[in-house]
Amino acid sequence: MLSIVEAERGEYRISTDPARLDAVAVQAYLTRSYWAQGIPLETVERALRNSLCLGLYHREAQVGLARVISDYATFAYLCDVYVLEDYRGKGLGKWLMDYVMMHPQLQNLRRFSLATRDAHDLYRRFGFRPLARPERVMEIRNDGVYQQQ
Ligand SMILES: CC(C)(COP(=O)(O)OP(=O)(O)OC[C@H]1O[C@@H](n2cnc3c(N)ncnc32)[C@H](O)[C@@H]1OP(=O)(O)O)[C@@H](O)C(=O)NCCC(=O)NCCS
Repeated sequence: MLSIVEAERGEYRISTDPARLDAVAVQAYLTRSYWAQGIPLETVERALRNSLCLGLYHREAQVGLARVISDYATFAYLCDVYVLEDYRGKGLGKWLMDYVMMHPQLQNLRRFSLATRDAHDLYRRFGFRPLARPERVMEIRNDGVYQQQ
């Protein structure tokens, strides 16, 4: 059973409570992100349901997210990290990342991965580094998956 983590900073809150997540708000951002354009609401709902999600809230409104896919023992993958435009530059992204990295079920993993276009410097502060041995890593890419549906 995953513990629910909550943190408060003035009018802002981080929560891992699945019941607080606003899938419609998350889909509204992700569909215009550079990595998940056109993602359907049903896909977002399924992804949220099957992930550890750290929602970022301003009063009651969801204004950000960090989603972690993990077995909580050996491996985790961090994705869908965002803070809505109006709330950027206030340290909220770093605050969210603090809580990802401190999460009790994400300790002592053998590998914690992510992919990013331009936020390397943000993640570098939390210990992430470029692949040490890229020749050992493979993937199946399906970039146009939401355009084909
Ligand atoms: C990345 C993002 C979550 C940061 O959120 P934020 O609340 O604005 O971040 P913070 O205010 O906590 O500051 C982030 C720090 O990382 C740095 N940074 C490095 N690369 C960055 C990038 N690509 N975007 C934003 N900040 C970046 C900032 O300069 C800042 O450093 P500072 O503390 O020295 O000023 C937000 O800009 C965002 O949602 N961007 C669009 C989505 C995205 O690119 N997500 C990452 C996908 S992997």
